[in-house]
Amino acid sequence: MADQLIPQHIGIIMDGNGRWAKLRGLPRYAGHSVGAKTFRRIAEYCNRIGVRYLTVYAFSTENWKRPQKEVDTILELMMDYLRDAESYVKLNIKTHFIGDLSAFSEEMRQMMDHAEKLSENATGLIVNIAINYGGRRELAQAMQKIAAEVKSGALLPEEIDESTVAAHLYTAGQPDVDLLIRPSGEYRLSNFMLWQTAYAEYVFMNTLWPDFSEKMLDNAIREFQKRNRRFGGAE
Ligand code: IPE
Ligand code: IPE
Ligand code: MG
Repeated sequence: MADQLIPQHIGIIMDGNGRWAKLRGLPRYAGHSVGAKTFRRIAEYCNRIGVRYLTVYAFSTENWKRPQKEVDTILELMMDYLRDAESYVKLNIKTHFIGDLSAFSEEMRQMMDHAEKLSENATGLIVNIAINYGGRRELAQAMQKIAAEVKSGALLPEEIDESTVAAHLYTAGQPDVDLLIRPSGEYRLSNFMLWQTAYAEYVFMNTLWPDFSEKMLDNAIREFQKRNRRFGGAE
């Protein structure tokens, strides 16, 4: 992969784990476990080819609707990731969690905090793990924070602009998503990065997430490189 034109920020909706398992006669949670391995491979690959930011959708604010056993498995896989945080630091990967983290246990939040601190000096890929993440929740929370600043007198309503909103999102200080990839054959955002994908290029694929490969990421980047991004300007 050529260095130039590598998207700076890639977002991935890691979808299709359940169907992958079902196709093999396995319980849905088995698909999540293989999906977690795919995540590791893809994060390492993004780091290697020089992607700056990778945001992965791991668990949405709506995913609590799933059977308890499945939710527990996903949280357990997250704990595995947290226990393994050191190995990502060795790869120079920086970890950041985005989402409404208040829903998680004190123990898990401390581990997330620890993983972030451990990797704070890493200079390679920055991985945002979206967990209990919802684009609408993120915007609502940003509005709460902005309203509190207005109430305190630190900010005037007429001073609120797009940069104010961006600065109060979980991704404050990061660039918008350039390339959004959704595998699994679904053509929707499912509440992912509503603000940050305003001008993203979308690539949809039929592959189920556990089968997603480095080669498929290359293909998505190639597709991205062919697109003509105008951002509203003229040709
Ligand atoms: C994505 O795979 C993982 C999570 C939502 C946590 P799914 O579990 O949604 O897989 P499908 O879409 O049912 O196949
Ligand atoms: C989106 O996938 C959430 C994650 C991949 C974590 P879903 O499987 O929850 O989305 P829908 O229900 O198909 O829209
Ligand atoms: Mg799904």
